[in-house]
Amino acid sequence: MLSIYTLDLIYFLAALTFVIGLKMLSHPDSARRGNQLAAVGMGIAVLGTLFLHPSALKLGEARTMKLGLIYAALAIGGWAGWASAYRVKMTAMPQMVSLFNGLGGGCAALLAIAELKSLYVHHYPTPTGLLLVLFTMFFGAVSLTGSLLAYAKLEDLVKDSAITLPRHTIVNLALLVVILSLIGYIVWGAGTTGLMLGMVLFGIALVYGFSFVAPIGGADMPVVISVLNSCTGLTAAAAGIIYDNLIMLVGGILVGASGSILTILMCKAMNRSLSNVLIGSFGAAATGGAKAVGDQVVKEVSVSDAAVLLNYSKSVVIVPGYGLAVAQAQKICKELDDLLDSNGVEVRYAIHPVAGRMPGHMNVLLAEADVPYTKLYDLEEANDFIKKADVAIVIGANDVVNPAALSDPSSPIYGMPVLEVWEAQNVIVMKRSMKSGYAGIENDLFFHARTKMLFGDAKDTLQKLVSEVKAL
Ligand code: TAP
Repeated sequence: MLSIYTLDLIYFLAALTFVIGLKMLSHPDSARRGNQLAAVGMGIAVLGTLFLHPSALKLGEARTMKLGLIYAALAIGGWAGWASAYRVKMTAMPQMVSLFNGLGGGCAALLAIAELKSLYVHHYPTPTGLLLVLFTMFFGAVSLTGSLLAYAKLEDLVKDSAITLPRHTIVNLALLVVILSLIGYIVWGAGTTGLMLGMVLFGIALVYGFSFVAPIGGADMPVVISVLNSCTGLTAAAAGIIYDNLIMLVGGILVGASGSILTILMCKAMNRSLSNVLIGSFGAAATGGAKAVGDQVVKEVSVSDAAVLLNYSKSVVIVPGYGLAVAQAQKICKELDDLLDSNGVEVRYAIHPVAGRMPGHMNVLLAEADVPYTKLYDLEEANDFIKKADVAIVIGANDVVNPAALSDPSSPIYGMPVLEVWEAQNVIVMKRSMKSGYAGIENDLFFHARTKMLFGDAKDTLQKLVSEVKAL
């Protein structure tokens, strides 16, 4: 009895660490500590469950073997998580988050399968119980295969066009109708065949998860990732209800709610409705809107000319993008910022909400280099002062500064708000080549009358720029 109260107290404390940790994640200064706090909370919740949960205390027959399996699973999972988190590059974080998210969903789906079996073998399955279990199984399975495919897309292992069928939306709607009908039949009419049909449902849900993500790609990936995130949260919360487990319920609700809020924010950032992203025409690899490079003129600028331009400007706006993360150039970028600042140039950063490959990617990157948070400006504010800036310097960004989003209705990113850098007096774009960004579309900014290209790896080029500015 005492152990149950102790466990409740442990779960309560763990839930508290999740809430406080989440709150601390909202600011770069406290984010690291917030993450550690929530991890400690999760650690004590797992240990409490292992040693104090009634079902862990009454394992019945073959107790030693069951405990051995639990410890072995914990050791293997713990080691795999630690090792991959230790080795992952910052640029590959979104893929890892996707993978872990999928595994979380898969885990909840497996729990739902075990519970479904137990409902049919040991109890009389009630409609409410069945609905809850089937809901968990469905969302868990969708989350698993959907996230695995999102991982493969982000890792560039799969091309959008290779797996998208003609009229894919209709295929998805048909699958959804089959799934909902099956759920209805299992809950209200299948009788003892429910267990077997539940397995069929699980299989179809796995296919649906894959098929649901297949046609979504390009610039719409941030939305689908956050939708899958909230799916996993909902699944974990539902599993928490099934197992009457407070910490699973609270953890699941927090993940589900934050995933849903993120989805809304991402849709806002892309200026798209959720339905438009999920069943609309999708921002997969572009076909229209691209123009031949051959008939347009690209102007280049030398490092020394760029240094002079920057050093004798009054205000400079830096637009960081995914390339800054790839080059790991955040520290040298801050050095250039300090140098210009000490020479009387006002330097500000314009942050697009989907720049990089994960929400808040640029904020995290720049916080790592100790760029003060007060220098970072959101899209709307930034667009106001870009107009008055002498130079906008785009470092490894592409889609988030593409004018086609405002001017070309045939472009897959049409309607997405972008940083209007071409409004500045001068634009310097730093990248290695004329290649497109994540959405796979050409960018007219590179041919704009005010734009000059500074080709090369962002870190190398920034290093050279710093040396040149120092020498002036
Ligand atoms: P992108 O459009 O992906 O462009 C990045 C650019 O960086 C590329 O054109 C690349 O050109 C350049 N680059 C790469 N490595 C570089 C290096 N070492 N040095 C210099 N430049 C380098 O990036 P963005 O403007 O940040 O836009 C983000 C895109 O990702 C959007 O389409 C967004 O929808 C999508 N997305 C975002 C998220 C989230 S949540 N943020 C998640 C998934 C997808 P070169 O190869 O020529 O150098």
